[in-house]
Amino acid sequence: MRLFFLLFMCAVFIVEAKEAIVPIPKRVVYDKQKALLGKRLFFDTSLSKDNSVGCVSCHNVHSGGSDSLAVSVGFGGKEGDIRSPTVLNAVFNFRQFWNGRAKDLYQQAKGPLLNPVEHNMTPKLVVERVKSDETYRNSFKKLYDDGVTFANVIDAIVEFEKALVTPDSKFDRFLRGEAELSQKERKGFTLFKRYGCISCHNGINVGGNSFAKIGIFFPYKNARSYPDRYAVTKDPIDKNVFKVPTLRNVALRPPYFHDGGYKRLIEAIKAMAHYNLGMEIDTNDAEAIESFLHTLTGELPEILDE
Ligand code: HEC
Ligand code: HEC
Repeated sequence: MRLFFLLFMCAVFIVEAKEAIVPIPKRVVYDKQKALLGKRLFFDTSLSKDNSVGCVSCHNVHSGGSDSLAVSVGFGGKEGDIRSPTVLNAVFNFRQFWNGRAKDLYQQAKGPLLNPVEHNMTPKLVVERVKSDETYRNSFKKLYDDGVTFANVIDAIVEFEKALVTPDSKFDRFLRGEAELSQKERKGFTLFKRYGCISCHNGINVGGNSFAKIGIFFPYKNARSYPDRYAVTKDPIDKNVFKVPTLRNVALRPPYFHDGGYKRLIEAIKAMAHYNLGMEIDTNDAEAIESFLHTLTGELPEILDE
């Protein structure tokens, strides 16, 4: 009996070790009609006070899911206070925003719509704008019992976000036994595990499931203050603590880190090793890790073709 238990625990350990990174399922569940409505809302700039900003302005879903700026620019050309994270695969994150202040996508989506430096709207104005469009009115009537409401606008946007997943990356196909990694990519994955990157970047999103400090071994200098975890908890231990970002599609979305401080992926890899693992890694190893990270680029979400 004891032996059986021991074998069982070994099996659990092996399975867990094997699955530190889990592939994105080929099919995810969402309501397609609502998601298509949400897609239109996501791209629609009339959901901002001066008709200039849509969710897509800061979240380019066709390439990486964020923008190319260190700090996003929203309503009236005003700067936000942190780098725009990706919306691709955000549905798999355990919390939303860099500091995790929203518990899920529903809570999150209200943020940008009402934020004065993003869409700068009120719930009432959102409903008025959506109602003024006949196609929207008809779609909402068909899909929701109570037609156009602020909650239903959020619901449709979130349904679209649920569809924003990028399956079938080379690495996921490798995990399923459907593809081989090159020697360099394989070396990069081994180093990613050996150096300990995987202790924070793991799970289905290769991140997105924990908080961690940037600057564990050497203090990370910020040019100004950012909305970190401390802004939520007021516990000094949470200064410079952020949600560990997903590394899926990371090659597509420079600049890196909450301050967009690094333009090249290889520099971000070296910086991570320095700040968070206390070691300097040479260019060869950093390049191998970079080529592994490139294998995390997935297929564009199917919903974008619809
Ligand atoms: C002006 C640029 C801008 C616009 C417009 C914008 N966002 Fe964002 N978005 C950001 C920034 C910046 C953050 C990070 C803020 C933070 O963490 O404090 C963010 C965070 C997010 C996140 C959290 C992702 C994560 O990993 O934590 C999601 C999801 C998201 N936005 C979706 C949307 C949706 C949906 C809309 C439209 C309703 C939208 N955004 C409009 C800039 C923008
Ligand atoms: C102790 C946890 C931890 C370890 C270990 C760690 N990271 Fe990170 N990683 C983070 C956090 C937290 C961030 C976000 C930092 C920020 O933006 O300030 C991050 C950000 C990144 C980014 C930038 C992602 C983006 O979208 O901006 C890359 C690339 C990255 N890590 C790669 C690595 C690599 C490669 C290693 C190993 C050499 C590693 N990380 C080790 C926690 C960790």
